[in-house]
Amino acid sequence: MDKDFGADLKNKAVRIDKVLPQILAQHADIHPRMLEAMRYTLEAPGKRLRAAMVMMCQEAVSGRQADSVSEIAAAAIEMVHTYSLIHDDLPAMDDDDFRRGRPSCHKQFDEPTAILAGDALLTFAFEVIASKIQDGTLAAKLISILASAAGPAGMIAGQMADLEAQNKQGSKEHLEYIHLNKTAKMFEAACLMGGACGGADSDTMTLLSRFGLKVGLAFQVADDILDVEQSSDVLGKTAGKDQQQGKLTYPALMGIDKAKQLLTDLTNQAVELLAPMGKRGKILVSLAQMLNNRVR
Ligand code: IPE
Ligand code: IPE
Ligand code: MG
Ligand code: MG
Ligand code: MG
Repeated sequence: MDKDFGADLKNKAVRIDKVLPQILAQHADIHPRMLEAMRYTLEAPGKRLRAAMVMMCQEAVSGRQADSVSEIAAAAIEMVHTYSLIHDDLPAMDDDDFRRGRPSCHKQFDEPTAILAGDALLTFAFEVIASKIQDGTLAAKLISILASAAGPAGMIAGQMADLEAQNKQGSKEHLEYIHLNKTAKMFEAACLMGGACGGADSDTMTLLSRFGLKVGLAFQVADDILDVEQSSDVLGKTAGKDQQQGKLTYPALMGIDKAKQLLTDLTNQAVELLAPMGKRGKILVSLAQMLNNRVR
């Protein structure tokens, strides 16, 4: 990984790690047990990739350092993402006992608490945007982007299709539908939220949308590969779960070598999409390359 890019990504992750507890602490009335459950998975060591992408896209578009507005947008998408992980791990879904290097939320607490902690993070994310971003037009735009990515024509559609496809024969088209919806749309949202914070014009928003979907799809292909090849320790979640549960994944459908080739192809396509941004897109090129080479 490019050294400067690595330091920048780390820096942004640290900023998010700081801002998340601050935002929660500013709200006096959150139920104490709920607060504990929300913080438990939210403040566990996640990679903060979607959040960092919001800030990186704001910087790429505006040429200004990530500001407190994109920091709020970044915190909000991290909350929605964390909710999706808590619910994804529930016994009724993927039934995973480990997440972010710790027992899953429902293991540490109990199922009802984990369900509510997910609900709480999802709704709180929108409250945070609405109450902390002064520019009402921008706040509405961010809410709209995030809600459609996470909603029934986005992540929920993908999660529903993922569960339906378990232990069934599936096509490449269907698998792409699952991955685009359950994962790539949140990456698209991260790029669009950053673009909106940076005041991107409509051509740039279109470019960011395409780039986000492309790297998001690549991200889930890599997740599928890592589930086969990486250890649970490094992943911070149980490896080998996809095969165990009969999930429709790229390695299952086309074999590990073709899945790796697809990951490289998608990464190259994502980088090509950035050409019109010229030098401004450099940080996003590094991001796509880092996602291609990630080991966790
Ligand atoms: C895991 O996302 C869920 C998927 C969409 C594959 P991440 O790998 O970004 O998880 P964290 O945030 O680092 O824990
Ligand atoms: C999850 O996909 C996508 C979400 C919307 C959370 P996975 O089920 O493959 O994610 P992991 O491997 O459990 O993190
Ligand atoms: Mg899942
Ligand atoms: Mg899962
Ligand atoms: Mg997975």
